[in-house]
Amino acid sequence: MRSAIVLAAGKGTRMKSSLCKVMHPVLNKPMIGHIVSTLKAANVDRIVVVVGHGAESVKEYLKDSVEYALQEPQLGTGHAVMQANVLEHEDGDTIVLCGDGPCIQKETILNAFEANKDYACTVLTSVLEKGGNYGRIIRNEDGMVEKIVEAKDCSKDELEVNEINTGIFCFKTQKLFDGLKNITTNNAQNEYYLTDLVEIFNRKGEKVNAMVVEDKDETMGVNDRVDLAKANVWLKKHVNHKHMVNGVTILDPENTYIDVDVEIGSDTVIYPNVHLQGNTKIGSNVTILPNSYLCNAIIENNVKIDSSKVVDSKVGEGSTVGPMSHLRNNTVIGNNCRIGNFVEFKNSNFGNGSKCAHLTYIGDSDVGERVNFGCGVVTVNYDGKNKYRTVVEDDAFIGSNCNLIAPVTIGKSALLAAGSTITSSVKDGDMGIARSRQTVVKGYGTKYKNK
Ligand code: UD1
Ligand code: CA
Repeated sequence: MRSAIVLAAGKGTRMKSSLCKVMHPVLNKPMIGHIVSTLKAANVDRIVVVVGHGAESVKEYLKDSVEYALQEPQLGTGHAVMQANVLEHEDGDTIVLCGDGPCIQKETILNAFEANKDYACTVLTSVLEKGGNYGRIIRNEDGMVEKIVEAKDCSKDELEVNEINTGIFCFKTQKLFDGLKNITTNNAQNEYYLTDLVEIFNRKGEKVNAMVVEDKDETMGVNDRVDLAKANVWLKKHVNHKHMVNGVTILDPENTYIDVDVEIGSDTVIYPNVHLQGNTKIGSNVTILPNSYLCNAIIENNVKIDSSKVVDSKVGEGSTVGPMSHLRNNTVIGNNCRIGNFVEFKNSNFGNGSKCAHLTYIGDSDVGERVNFGCGVVTVNYDGKNKYRTVVEDDAFIGSNCNLIAPVTIGKSALLAAGSTITSSVKDGDMGIARSRQTVVKGYGTKYKNK
């Protein structure tokens, strides 16, 4: 049985924020969300999140994906773990993590369980240039951990130690809850320190193991906005690296922003200043040119996106989008379509092989296959009170600068003459023309100029 306790009840005073600390996003996902996803990826059986400050917002976000323990008031990390006593009767191991450490990776969690196989407790440590505010790891002659001393409780010599407590521990679950009965608040901060368990285990004749985490930044704790920025940079680098190893070309990884849950196929090329967010899924051999923003987008193979925005929408195989286009609100673009310059789509379907190359708004519309939209077409979907749909069937041709006043249906292979304002439906094969006939006033141009 593998359990996890995530400490997330603290206020996070140094964030200077009305949002509780663990809800602050890193790569657009709350820190607590990263930790829970990673624990799930590591197949941990039970996850208990200890909440206190901001409990409601954490619960609203994580919903019933985890179990909760309420810590009220917050009397320290040891006290926080005591509240997770729903795990008291479990066998096996429990990993304890801090909710403000969003960068922890699945492999490290699995390694921690493995490292604790023959111990009551394994502390995950890292070696820094300077120990700063972190708890110091004091080892005994055998190299095992003798105690952890909080910076505020350190002697001068102890402060010199640069191996620190990452705040992540793996325990034998039974020994954890047993040991907690012995901790006190006898320290500089009058708190129940989880770290005191190390000395307690030693007194009971248990050896405490240390596992050094190689990348010291993976276990960093976010305490203020400066740390938050560091965590963003670290995780971004890590995510981009993973995609590059998987066969994605990223021209400038420092200036490419990909959320952790985004999927990308091989041979896709991503230019600088591209943002890929949420549950975006991108196929193979896709090209995403600079300044594109995709959120919850599904992009199939061989698509090209040029300086465009795609939100909650899908683009089918072989299509091209942009420059400067915006697809949003459940728009579905078929295969081999061309969405050109300055085009906006909202809540619309666009069939295979259809084209819409310039300056067009298509909203609340169902467009068939091989339809051509000229320049500057507008579907007039809103009368100020209600929205209506526009239907354009296969092979229709919509001339430039037409307005389609919805609800309206343009039949198969129908033609709309350029500059028409279409207020009633046009049947299959017919032409709709709705504009006044031109008159020519002979010689007036010259006359006007000379006036
Ligand atoms: C803690 C460790 C320190 C370690 C550091 C790593 C203790 C006593 N100290 O210090 O050795 O180097 O983490 O980042 O354990 N929390 C609660 N309830 C509480 C207090 C804290 O849930 O009553 C949570 C916080 O929300 C936070 C985590 O525990 O997610 C760590 O608390 P924090 O106050 O940041 O501890 P540090 O002083 O950083
Ligand atoms: Ca901390």
